[in-house]
Amino acid sequence: MAEEAVLGFLQTNDQISDSHQFAASVGVGHTELENVIKSLKGFEIVDAQEITRESWVLTEEGKKYMVNGSPEALFFSAIPPEGISRNILKEKLGIETFDIGSKAAAKNKWIAFEKDLVKRKVESVEDEVKNLLTRINNGEVVSDQVINDLKRRKLIVKQTWKGYSLKRGPKYVSKRKKAATDLTREHIVSGDWKNLEFKEYNVNAEAPAIQVGYLHSLLEVHEEIQNIFLQMGFEEMPTNNFVESSFWNFDALFQPQQHPARDSHDTFFLETADRTKDLPEDYLEKVKRVHEFGGYGSKGYGYDWKRDEAEKNLLRTHTTAVSTRMLFALAQQETFTPKRYYSIDRVFRNEAVDRTHLAEFHQIEGVICDRGLTLGDLIGVLEDFFSRLGMSKLRFKPAYNPYTEPSMEIFSYHDGLQKWVEVGNSGMFRPEMLLPMGLPEDVNVIAWGLSLERPTMILYGISNIRDLFGPKVDFNLIKNNPICRLGI
Ligand code: PHE
Repeated sequence: MAEEAVLGFLQTNDQISDSHQFAASVGVGHTELENVIKSLKGFEIVDAQEITRESWVLTEEGKKYMVNGSPEALFFSAIPPEGISRNILKEKLGIETFDIGSKAAAKNKWIAFEKDLVKRKVESVEDEVKNLLTRINNGEVVSDQVINDLKRRKLIVKQTWKGYSLKRGPKYVSKRKKAATDLTREHIVSGDWKNLEFKEYNVNAEAPAIQVGYLHSLLEVHEEIQNIFLQMGFEEMPTNNFVESSFWNFDALFQPQQHPARDSHDTFFLETADRTKDLPEDYLEKVKRVHEFGGYGSKGYGYDWKRDEAEKNLLRTHTTAVSTRMLFALAQQETFTPKRYYSIDRVFRNEAVDRTHLAEFHQIEGVICDRGLTLGDLIGVLEDFFSRLGMSKLRFKPAYNPYTEPSMEIFSYHDGLQKWVEVGNSGMFRPEMLLPMGLPEDVNVIAWGLSLERPTMILYGISNIRDLFGPKVDFNLIKNNPICRLGI
């Protein structure tokens, strides 16, 4: 309908000078008309020029005065010929109309105050403000002086309209045939296709921006780190079991059963399916023996090892549980093959939650299993790995893990933060852990672990972990995050 109106009008007139006026005169919304104009312009059926127009419109208060009269006129009309007490008038008019009306009426010299009385100074008054507002509302032009006065009284505001002026275009037609966009079965059957005009392909049309998924920052860094491991020849370990038994999470790692990490304050234990029954019996016996009495050159811990404790199910506290399963599987092979394994997956700790800690996080873990590995190999591989992450200045500090000896915390100098930050933990797995599995005596395992959240927060400048993980994450932040390239 809007299209017919435009084309019809231009058939007998040279131009439509203002699309807003035109929309109002034919009774269509301007947005609808604007869509028609854009389409007609695209086909060069009309020439459209953008125009901006300014006009004054009434504020809510202005509209009220236009309908009911200005406060000064109301004030004047409420005064009887003999005058009236201020207080009675105030009550009659309400405080707002009284205040505004008395000031404006006094300024117009319409009224006078005599002691407590208000009196008329003139016989009658013309409500000029109401008249002017009505004229402005009708789109009439009024003097600048009037505009300024009304603007100062906040009765009118300026509004800017964007619109178009239109002329016939080079391909003007008084009626546009609707171009067909598809050739359908019905067209062919009915023979319509012979008369149809088909819409041309516009190969220059810009495709709409695709709002597809965006990688969360953790996934971006995850992918980069995964690439580094793959470039270094590591294979991924299957980490798809959040629930683990204490046996694989702790006991097999030579972590004694009284160790504080095995307390429910540090570990989430399961209530349902609270026990694992299926454990490798021969190996379990060896683990029990090494905890109780040692062996392989070790004294052990000398306590009474309990199967019941090892059977307790928990949410794994580290992916080293998976590394342990992998090493055990490797030890079961007939001939030993060296391996480089990695994983990046979720772990859980029953910790107080704060700006930098959640009860769950992602652990990155690297493990190399080969004959004759030394601490020098560990340091070398860590330097290689971390320099690929963009951290080439490393320092190591002796540390303690029940399952590694020696153990080292890894620190890296952060240029942005201008300080040494802890970036990971590492070590060489103890013989008490490897030999009961059945790995050959000359095989050593070097390994390290770090969190995915720490480097991600540093890289993206995030200081509160809740902005990175959990229900408070802002999707726009994820959408607008720069892509991640480590080590450049
Ligand atoms: N499991 C250790 C942790 O939770 C990381 C680690 C992995 C340490 C391998 C040494 C060797 O922090």
